[in-house]
Amino acid sequence: MSILVTGGTGFIGSHTVVQLLEKGYDVVIVDNLVNSKKLVLNRIQQISGKMPKFYEVDCCDEEKFRKVFEAEKITDVIHFAGLKSVAESVQKPDLYFSNNVGSSKVLMKLMKEFGVKNLVFSSSATVYGVPDHVPLKETDNVGGCTNPYGQTKLDIEYLLKDFSKENPDMNIAILRYFNPIGAHPSGLIGEDPQGIPNNLMPYITQVAVGKRDHLNVYGNDYKTVDGTGVRDYIHVVDLARGHLCALKKLEQKPGLVVYNLGTGKGTSVLELVSAFEKANFIHIPYVICDRRPGDVDENYADSSLAYEEMGFKTQLTIFDACRDSWNWQSNNPNGYDEGDSNEGVCSKSK
Ligand code: WQD
Repeated sequence: MSILVTGGTGFIGSHTVVQLLEKGYDVVIVDNLVNSKKLVLNRIQQISGKMPKFYEVDCCDEEKFRKVFEAEKITDVIHFAGLKSVAESVQKPDLYFSNNVGSSKVLMKLMKEFGVKNLVFSSSATVYGVPDHVPLKETDNVGGCTNPYGQTKLDIEYLLKDFSKENPDMNIAILRYFNPIGAHPSGLIGEDPQGIPNNLMPYITQVAVGKRDHLNVYGNDYKTVDGTGVRDYIHVVDLARGHLCALKKLEQKPGLVVYNLGTGKGTSVLELVSAFEKANFIHIPYVICDRRPGDVDENYADSSLAYEEMGFKTQLTIFDACRDSWNWQSNNPNGYDEGDSNEGVCSKSK
């Protein structure tokens, strides 16, 4: 009996697979490696002591994806697979809709065909569009997404809600992530963006490791504590644990549930920079620039429903995330591109 994890060699996927293996689940990863490396499998094994089964398959490829369902005894699915660059989605909207929505449609078809009832879906706080208040609750309005990436997540949510109505014996948990940061404390897995990082934390760690000269702070005239953008930064290890809580929740046969996964606290860009400097005794030079199109002033979660209904709340702090992000980046200056060398990795207690 296995948990199928699509996109399981990605940032959040790999951290979730580690915890699934550590909890004794059998894991089958399906990933096309478009935005990740096969080396991640070895790192997962180094951390957990177990090697997950792996199929290099594109979830949009129904014929090949079906063979995985035929070969494996799948009981639950965690669906991470998808393109996730906001900036790229603006340049290539058709690719994002065909890949993200298309792969989800194939997955739903195969789950129904093979009688797989439990699905955890990786959604995003971007489905809330431009919030008119914070913190955000699951019952708040969605829509008005500021980019095609966010729209694909919302479209998939709508597809899942229709799928749930047509198939009332399906159990679906939609998890709306806020801003994932950090890395596994071993320093063996972490965020490995391709090219110039869009997101704040990987850009900070690349400045710290000397790959980037300075951080560009996109705007300091927002209506926030210090004028810079405020977000809800959740440690990826906490976020991964939230998926295991969701799997447990699905055992209660809840039909379809939606949860925000965040800390419930907002942190500004400059507050995160300061926390990183204090956690790692490293100076991060920055330049204040113009606002980035599509950015909002503030965005953070009301995370109480996840606690009330599945007992999930974050345990790790911004300081932990800054320390762990740096441990990953300093031990892997070029991410997973350095081959399987992990000499000098500072293994921290779990
Ligand atoms: C955070 C803050 C920027 C980079 C996106 C997606 C969301 C989720 C997380 C997938 C903002 C500022 C950033 C930089 C900066 N991804 N910033 N300089 O835009 O809140 O959310 O990533 O689910 O769906 O929308 O995250 O890290 O890009 O930006 O000043 O070099 O940092 O303006 O205020 P964002 P981010």
